Amino acid sequence: MFKAEHNQLEGQISSSQLIINKRIEVSSAFILGTRRKGTFVNMRKRRLCRLILLQVICTIGLITYLHLVDTSRERETLQNVLRDDNPYGNVRFGGKWSPSEENRCGCSEKVAILVPYRDREEHLDIFLRHMHPFLQRHRLDYVIYVIEQHGEERNFCKGLLYNVGFTEALKDDPTYDCFIFHDVDLLPEDSRNLYTCSKSPCHLSVAIDKFDYNLPYNDLFGGVSAMKTSHYKLVNGYSNLFCGWGGEDDDIARRLKRHMLKISRPDKNVARYKMLSHNQTEKNPQRFKLLGHWLSRAMKDGLKSLKTTGYNVTSTSQRELYTHILVNITKRGVIDYHHKKAI
Ligand code: BGC
Ligand code: MN
Repeated sequence: MFKAEHNQLEGQISSSQLIINKRIEVSSAFILGTRRKGTFVNMRKRRLCRLILLQVICTIGLITYLHLVDTSRERETLQNVLRDDNPYGNVRFGGKWSPSEENRCGCSEKVAILVPYRDREEHLDIFLRHMHPFLQRHRLDYVIYVIEQHGEERNFCKGLLYNVGFTEALKDDPTYDCFIFHDVDLLPEDSRNLYTCSKSPCHLSVAIDKFDYNLPYNDLFGGVSAMKTSHYKLVNGYSNLFCGWGGEDDDIARRLKRHMLKISRPDKNVARYKMLSHNQTEKNPQRFKLLGHWLSRAMKDGLKSLKTTGYNVTSTSQRELYTHILVNITKRGVIDYHHKKAI
């Protein structure tokens, strides 16, 4: 009985062992199978990943490209917008501007703005940005000329540069009726200060912040002034002999007086200016002696003696916001105060 039971038990164990073995076999087969299948899936996954990565790279590339194209288009459009909205966007090359026919100011004047210049790049930049919108508000037909001095002469010859600018501007366009003589460091503050030529020469920079908005003396004609073409010719322009700071404006003021041309002025509440700061230029020690002999020089030294004055126009070029006249001035010799002989 015991043996029989034992055999039965053994039989049961071995059959259950068989079952277990079978299970193990099945499960290992399953595991192995999964592994094999897993390798296959992994490969597919890796391939998929590579594909996705490639797609992502392509998409990023495409987006970047489209963005760049878009940005450059945007930039172009922005430039166009700026060109249209820009207050000086429609200034023609050479710094020329005229109002549309229906928008004219009522005056038929053609105005040339003369700006003698040397070594003041930052001032010129501010000046041009300020002046174009200002002049367009007047609806003027105007051109800005910048007359730049270079060459051996160390001192700045403002009067000579004005005479050269006047002559060259009339070669450029003989129909100018009105000239504005303008320091590069003066900015008009009030749009009511009109840049036109009245019957008499006009001193426009009446009230400058540097002088606490007061006129320093009654005969002052420097800074910014306006003269008809005919008046400028009549007085023989500026003297060519004042090089270095001061005196050339006092000299022309005497010439105007001599021709009974009274200096007019706009209201000081309107003719207000801001002066851009700069170091004081070297004063011309000879200015008083020159002024002492103003009358004996008045009809010779000026526009009439320009050809014998020792300068030449190096170049004339049309820049974006102005016409540039580059003038070579040779070293000044001994001053002939009476201007009896050509220098
Ligand atoms: C000079 C002028 C100058 C004025 C104002 C005078 O002493 O001679 O050329 O415009 O001062 O600064
Ligand atoms: Mn100044």
